[in-house]
Amino acid sequence: MTILILLALSMAAAAMTMTAAAAASFSIELIHRDSPKSPFYNHSATSLDRARAAIYRSAHQARRIAARAQRRGGIEPSDVVSKVVPDSFEYLMELRLGTPPFSILAIADTGSDLIWTNCVPCTKCYKQTAPLFDPASSSSYRTLPCDSNPCKALPHSPCGAGGTCEYQYAYADGSKIDGVLGTEDLTFDSSAGTPVVISNIAFGCNSQSSGVFSGRTAGLAGLGASPVSLASQLVPSLDKKYFSYCLVPMSDAQASSKVIFGSAGVVAGDKVTTPMTVEDSFFVLRLEEIIVDGAGTVPVPASATGLKTGNIIIDSGTTVNYLPTGVLSSLVQEVSRVVSLPNATDPDRLLPLCFTVAGEADRQKLPFITFKFAGEASVRLSPTSMFMQEANQVVCLAVADTGSDTPILGNVAQQNLHVGYDLDVKEVSFASADCATL
Ligand SMILES: *[C@@H]1O[C@H](CO)[C@@H](O)[C@H](O)[C@H]1NC(C)=O
Ligand SMILES: *[C@@H]1O[C@H](CO)[C@@H](O)[C@H](O)[C@H]1NC(C)=O
Repeated sequence: MTILILLALSMAAAAMTMTAAAAASFSIELIHRDSPKSPFYNHSATSLDRARAAIYRSAHQARRIAARAQRRGGIEPSDVVSKVVPDSFEYLMELRLGTPPFSILAIADTGSDLIWTNCVPCTKCYKQTAPLFDPASSSSYRTLPCDSNPCKALPHSPCGAGGTCEYQYAYADGSKIDGVLGTEDLTFDSSAGTPVVISNIAFGCNSQSSGVFSGRTAGLAGLGASPVSLASQLVPSLDKKYFSYCLVPMSDAQASSKVIFGSAGVVAGDKVTTPMTVEDSFFVLRLEEIIVDGAGTVPVPASATGLKTGNIIIDSGTTVNYLPTGVLSSLVQEVSRVVSLPNATDPDRLLPLCFTVAGEADRQKLPFITFKFAGEASVRLSPTSMFMQEANQVVCLAVADTGSDTPILGNVAQQNLHVGYDLDVKEVSFASADCATL
C-alpha cells in the first residue's frame, strides 16, 4: 500500500520537472558517527567505548521502532516522529541543497520520513555550528501548497498563510520542530562522474527546533519507506527502482560506507534474495530459522508484534539485533552448547550471552550463525558480525531481547554485506562484500 502511494506520488512530482533530467544512478557516503570524518568523533574513545555506546544506543532505537510499529496509522501526530530521538543515530550524510548547492550535515535515519534542515532566520532553533540554509539565496527553492501530496503525507500539517504547507512535529522527549514544507534541488555525485541534480525534493525548512538535537548536525534525512523520505523521493529519477548499502565494520575507522541509488547499486555475484514488504516506514522480512554452526536450528515464529506481513524489520540505524524472548533463549542455548569459553556477564546487562575471550585463539571458538529468510535465503554471518566486545576480554552475542516489541535485524549483522532493495520486485538481496572497496 505504502509503496503504491509512494510511486504514484513521486511519479506525479517527477512528471512536472523530470522531463530534461536523464535517469540517474549515484551514491551517497554514509558517515559513521564515530569515524574521523564525523563531528562526533572522539579521539580519546577506544573501540571498546564505541562498541559499548552503540549497544546502549540500540536499546533506544529499538524502543522507538517498536513504539512506532505498534501505534502505526495512529491518531497522535507525534507518533510518526517519536522514534527519531536525534542523538541515538548511527550514520550521517552530507546533502547538497539548493542552487547553488549548500552543504548540510544531516542525520541519516532509516526509520523515519521527513527530510528537514534549519532555515534562516531560525530565531527559535537549537544552535548549530554550521551556517544556516537560507532559502532566499537559493533560486530553486519553492514552498509547497497545503493540497500538495507531500503535505497530505505528513501527519500534522496545518495550513499556513497563503495556503503554504506547514508542519509541527513533537518528539516524545519534548524536542520539537516546525516550519514550512518546500521543495529543493539536491545535488549528488554520480557514478558517471558529473554531478546529478534531482529537482523538486520535498523537505522541511525549520523555523523552530528545540530539544536534544546536537548543534553539530544541521538536519535529518529520512531514509525509510514512506512517501516523503529521501529514498522514496529519489526513486522516480533513477534508472532502476533500486538502492543498496554496504556498511564497513565498525573496527575500520578509515573506510566509508555508502548507499547507492539506481542500477549501479544492484547486488551482484553470489547473492541470496528474499521477499520484502513495506509497512509504514519499515522494510519487513520473514526470518524462518537461525542455525548455529555445530549446534542446532532455532525456529522463528511467523508472526511478530507490530508487523502484519513478516516477522523482522531490517534496519541500518540500530546496532544490535532484537529477537523475541523465546527465540533468543533457544539461540542462547544453542550457542552456549558449542562455545567452550567461560561465561561472562555484560556489565550493562543489555546482552544476555557473553564469554571471556582472552585472545585470538579464543575468538576462533565463536561460531558462525546463519539467518535463513523466506525463499531459501541463507545469510551466513561470521563471529565478527554476530558478537561484539562489551568490556575488556568480554565478548557478547549481539542479540538482545525484544520482549513484547518488534524484532529488528541490526547493522552489526549487516557489516560487510552488500544489501540491495529492489523496490519494483519488492525483494532484498544479500551478498558478502568488502564494503571498504565496493
Ligand atoms: C570521549 O571518550 C572518553 C573515553 O570514553 C570519555 O571519557 C569522554 O567523555 C568522551 N568525550 C566526549 C565529549 O564524549
Ligand atoms: C553459561 O550460560 C548459559 C546461558 O545462560 C548457560 O546455559 C550455561 O549453563 C552457562 N555455563 C556455565 C558453565 O555456567
